[in-house]
Amino acid sequence: MLLSHWSLLWSLLVYSPLTQSRPAVDPTDTAMAPQWVTPDKMGKRLHTAPASTTVKFRCQATGNPTPTLRWFKNGKEFKRDQRIGGFKLRDHMWTIIMESVVPSDKGNYTCLVENRFGSLTHTYQLDVVERSPHRPILQAGLPANRTAVVGSDVEFVCRVYSDVQPHIQWLKHITVNDSRVGPDGLPYVRVLKTVSQANTTERFTVKNVSVEDEGEYTCLAGNSIGISYQSAWLTVVNGTHTHPNTPDIVEHSSHRPILQARLPANRTAMVGSNVEFVFQVYSDRPTYILWVKHITINGRRERILKNSRLSTTDGEMEVFTVKNVSVEDEGQYTCMAGHSIGMSHHSAWLTVVNSAHSTT
Ligand SMILES: *[C@@H]1O[C@H](CO)[C@@H](O)[C@H](O)[C@H]1NC(C)=O
Ligand SMILES: *[C@@H]1O[C@H](CO)[C@@H](O)[C@H](O)[C@H]1NC(C)=O
Ligand SMILES: *[C@@H]1O[C@H](CO)[C@@H](O)[C@H](O)[C@H]1NC(C)=O
Ligand SMILES: *[C@@H]1O[C@H](CO)[C@@H](O)[C@H](O)[C@H]1NC(C)=O
Ligand SMILES: *[C@@H]1O[C@H](CO)[C@@H](O)[C@H](O)[C@H]1NC(C)=O
Ligand SMILES: *[C@@H]1O[C@H](CO)[C@@H](O)[C@H](O)[C@H]1NC(C)=O
Ligand SMILES: *[C@@H]1O[C@H](CO)[C@@H](O)[C@H](O)[C@H]1NC(C)=O
Ligand SMILES: *[C@@H]1O[C@H](CO)[C@@H](O)[C@H](O)[C@H]1NC(C)=O
Repeated sequence: MLLSHWSLLWSLLVYSPLTQSRPAVDPTDTAMAPQWVTPDKMGKRLHTAPASTTVKFRCQATGNPTPTLRWFKNGKEFKRDQRIGGFKLRDHMWTIIMESVVPSDKGNYTCLVENRFGSLTHTYQLDVVERSPHRPILQAGLPANRTAVVGSDVEFVCRVYSDVQPHIQWLKHITVNDSRVGPDGLPYVRVLKTVSQANTTERFTVKNVSVEDEGEYTCLAGNSIGISYQSAWLTVVNGTHTHPNTPDIVEHSSHRPILQARLPANRTAMVGSNVEFVFQVYSDRPTYILWVKHITINGRRERILKNSRLSTTDGEMEVFTVKNVSVEDEGQYTCMAGHSIGMSHHSAWLTVVNSAHSTT
C-alpha cells in the first residue's frame, strides 16, 4: 500500500514536467532540502468533518530554495474542476481550503513539497459525515422572561437550529373555563404567529403592552423529525402605579417581593380532604403570583396550578387549595412572587395519607 503510493508519487515526480519556476538558490545560504516547519502538527492523518463545513489542510515547509507545494487527491493531481466549488490555495500559508464539503470529498489528500534538493509528502485522510437529522434545537435561555410597562413594546427572541427547514409558532398560554390545561392534559394556547420558512433568529413583538398581555409565551419549532419548545413569561407593570400610602418607599426601596418565612408550610392531608397552602408576600408594587407543582411530563418539570396578580401590597395573604386530595397530589408545591425587580419563591411538600389505613 505504502509502496504503491510512493511509486505513484515517484512517477508523478519523474514524469510530470514541473510548471512552477524554481527560485534560485541564494548563494550566501547553503542548499537545503524541504523540511516540515512543524512536523509534530502533521501527525494527525485522519480528519472527520461534518458535511457543509470548511476543511483546511496545511503542509508548511521550509527549504532553500523555497519549496513548491502541490496537492494530490487519491494519488492524482488535484484540479479545481474536480470538485463543485473548487478549492482555494493559500500558498503563503501552505494551505488548501475546501468550502462546504460533501461526501464525494472523502479521500486521501497528499501534499508534495519539493525543491531541487529533495521532496516531502504528507497524506491527510478526509472523512465527511452527514449530520444526523434531529428535531430543532432551541438556544437555552431564549425566549427570556421580560418585564414591560403598560403601553410599551416588548420583544421575545427565539433561536432555532435545524438542518431541515423548520417552521415556528409563537403561542400564548390562555385560561379557558378557569383552567390552563385541557382535558387532554395539554395547555390551552392561542397561536400568535406562524412562520413557515423560519430563520435562525425569530422575533415576536407584543406592541402597546396591556395588563392582559401578561402571561406565558412559547416558541415552538418543528421540522419533519419532531418539535421543540421553550417558554418565557411576560410580566406587565403599571407605569403610572404608585403606592397609595407610602409613595416614597416605592421610590427608594425597590426590592423583589419578600415572602413570609416558613410559608407555605409542609402539609399532610387525608385522601378525599381539602388542603390549603398559605403564603404571605410583602411587595411595593403589583406582583405576579404563580403556584406550581413539580412534575415530570415530556421533560417539563412544572405544572402551573394557578396564577394571579396582587395589585395591593404589604402582607397580602395568598391561599391555594388542593381539593379532594388524591395520592397523585403528593409532592412539592412552589409559590413564586415576581415583579419588575425580581422574583422570590418558597416550596412546601404535601404528604398524602391514605384513609384506607384506618380500620373500617
Ligand atoms: C486512503 O488511505 C487509507 C489508508 O492508507 C486507505 O485505507 C484508503 O483506502 C485510501 N482511500 C482512497 C480513496 O484511496
Ligand atoms: C421566568 O419566569 C418564570 C415565572 O415567573 C419562572 O418560573 C422562571 O424561573 C423564570 N425564568 C428565568 C430564566 O428567570
Ligand atoms: C367551558 O364551559 C362551558 C360551560 O360549562 C362549556 O359549555 C364549554 O364547552 C367549556 N369550554 C371548554 C373549552 O371546555
Ligand atoms: C427571514 O426569512 C425571510 C423569508 O423566509 C426573509 O425574507 C428575511 O429576510 C429573513 N430575515 C433575516 C433577518 O434573515
Ligand atoms: C394602546 O392601547 C390603548 C388601550 O389599551 C389604546 O388606548 C391606545 O390608543 C393604544 N396606543 C397605540 C399607540 O396604539
Ligand atoms: C394603573 O394605573 C392607573 C392610573 O393610576 C390606574 O387607573 C389603574 O387602575 C392601574 N392599573 C392596575 C392594574 O394597577
Ligand atoms: C418539608 O418537607 C420536605 C420533604 O419531606 C423536607 O425536606 C423539609 O425539610 C420540610 N420542611 C419543613 C420546614 O419541615
Ligand atoms: C374525589 O375524587 C375521587 C377520585 O379521586 C372521586 O371518585 C370523588 O367523586 C371525588 N369527590 C368529590 C367530592 O369530588
